[in-house]
Amino acid sequence: MSVLDGKVCFITGAARGIGAAAARLFAAEGARLVLTDLDETAGAALAAELPEAMFLTLDVSDEAGWRDAMDAALARFGRLDVLLNNAGIFERAPLSETSVGMFMRTVRINQLGVFLGMREAAPAMQAAGGGSIINLSSVGGLFGSVNNIAYSGTKWAVRGMTKCAALELAPFGIRVNSIHPGGVDTPMLAAQMDAAMRGAVAQGTPLGRLATAGDVAAMALFLASDASSYSTGAEFICDGGMTVG
Ligand SMILES: NC(=O)c1ccc[n+]([C@@H]2O[C@H](COP(=O)([O-])OP(=O)(O)OC[C@H]3O[C@@H](n4cnc5c(N)ncnc54)[C@H](O)[C@@H]3O)[C@@H](O)[C@H]2O)c1
Repeated sequence: MSVLDGKVCFITGAARGIGAAAARLFAAEGARLVLTDLDETAGAALAAELPEAMFLTLDVSDEAGWRDAMDAALARFGRLDVLLNNAGIFERAPLSETSVGMFMRTVRINQLGVFLGMREAAPAMQAAGGGSIINLSSVGGLFGSVNNIAYSGTKWAVRGMTKCAALELAPFGIRVNSIHPGGVDTPMLAAQMDAAMRGAVAQGTPLGRLATAGDVAAMALFLASDASSYSTGAEFICDGGMTVG
């Protein structure tokens, strides 16, 4: 028996990086999957590789899009057990050069997207008798950093919203937790940091390397499964020791 047998798991930003690694791992553990992303080509190709997976194009900042996606997911699988709120963007700039456009784009995807996902998933999980919502924050949601006010602000918001939702949804058996990765070797990090910068981050991390997408997916698997049945409103750090000292 695999740990996600019978569970229906909805993943945002599933076309690449951490979301794609989670999709593969969850599928290997018996999950039925609703994969969503803006990138239809890569997302649909991944869904086609996996045993019981559907792909839906979803911009997480689109309220009506969430309703349509949830309807389509329930029409296909009839229930929802897990939501991995993973989609996000990372743009860095000094405070003085952070435009309202960049700030609001980050808020809409990283914060509003997570809020909409939790709001739209909760009724289906309540109907299923419980569930697990997993929100991707970051170590950027645990401490401050330079040139990072938009991204870090949204990741602190995800951490806070996770706790509010955990309290509201606990009576329905719905658990809500946040994951806080350090540097993860995905296209997101490569787009914002050159190889030298990524090397410096790895060297400054006690475990001496960046995380793989699989490292973070493994933590998401724990939170998706019943192995984490007594954890809610909590912060799960996956940072190679970056925040220890
Ligand atoms: N990579 C890191 O170092 C790192 C560290 C801490 C936290 N995180 C968080 O982990 C999550 C996944 O990051 P990743 O490294 O896999 O990123 P990534 O850029 O490799 O993948 C992100 C995916 O999200 C999708 N996406 C972007 N905007 C979207 C939108 N509006 N609607 C739907 N999908 C959208 C992209 O198409 C892409 O497939 C993010 O929330 C990120 O902030 C990443």
